[in-house]
Amino acid sequence: RAHAPVVVAIDGPSGSGKSTVSRAVAARLGLSFLDTGAMYRAMTWWMLANDVDVTDPEAVAVACGKPVIVSGTDAGGPTITVDGQDVSGPIRGPEVTAQVSAVAAVPAVRARLVELQRGCAEVAERGIVAEGRDMGTVVFPQATVKVFLTASEAARAERRAAELRAKGVDEATITAMAADLARRDAADSSRETAPLAQAADAVLVDTSELTLEQVIGRIAALVEERAGLS
Ligand code: DC
Repeated sequence: RAHAPVVVAIDGPSGSGKSTVSRAVAARLGLSFLDTGAMYRAMTWWMLANDVDVTDPEAVAVACGKPVIVSGTDAGGPTITVDGQDVSGPIRGPEVTAQVSAVAAVPAVRARLVELQRGCAEVAERGIVAEGRDMGTVVFPQATVKVFLTASEAARAERRAAELRAKGVDEATITAMAADLARRDAADSSRETAPLAQAADAVLVDTSELTLEQVIGRIAALVEERAGLS
């Protein structure tokens, strides 16, 4: 290749709008897209389906080499399979959501998935937008552009609630899920291995007062500027 492939690393807490933004930026710039949270969720789904005690880090470490996890990186329709089975639905369910932080804290799990993530970037045609918690800090330290997306806690809670309301979820469940989300963000930010953190050279984008379109435009402009994409 004449140029190193473009890597756009986007990190941030749940509810910052990361997934929607990252996917839209990838689609706009013709880049591949990788949702690394989906990989941790897929690993967790497999552990639960195979009766691995996810509260036992040793058991998780021993088992985590077994499932074959494949992420499709088409920004138009990302896919994820475990041992050939499409798990895009079940990995969003409450069982996986409740346990994924514990699984993602196990170093052996991270080592395995980081390797897969780097592999996805290597085969991406024009480059990749990768989103997660440690894209800029650990997985792609040489990324072309690093973005740390945040939003005020109130804005994040309100967005999540609106999403859930639109799906017909009742208010009591929404309140319970907000508490669970706060717990998960605290766990993801305080774990020992690759905690959620802003890389020193990441651009901070606070989305609280911005529309989705403004956030996408800002990040796409940053990438175009740094990578000379058009
Ligand atoms: O973004 P998400 O909610 O789908 O992520 C699911 C979980 O996976 C979340 O609790 C944090 C973890 N995760 C991680 O540890 N590292 C990543 N690169 C992406 C997600």
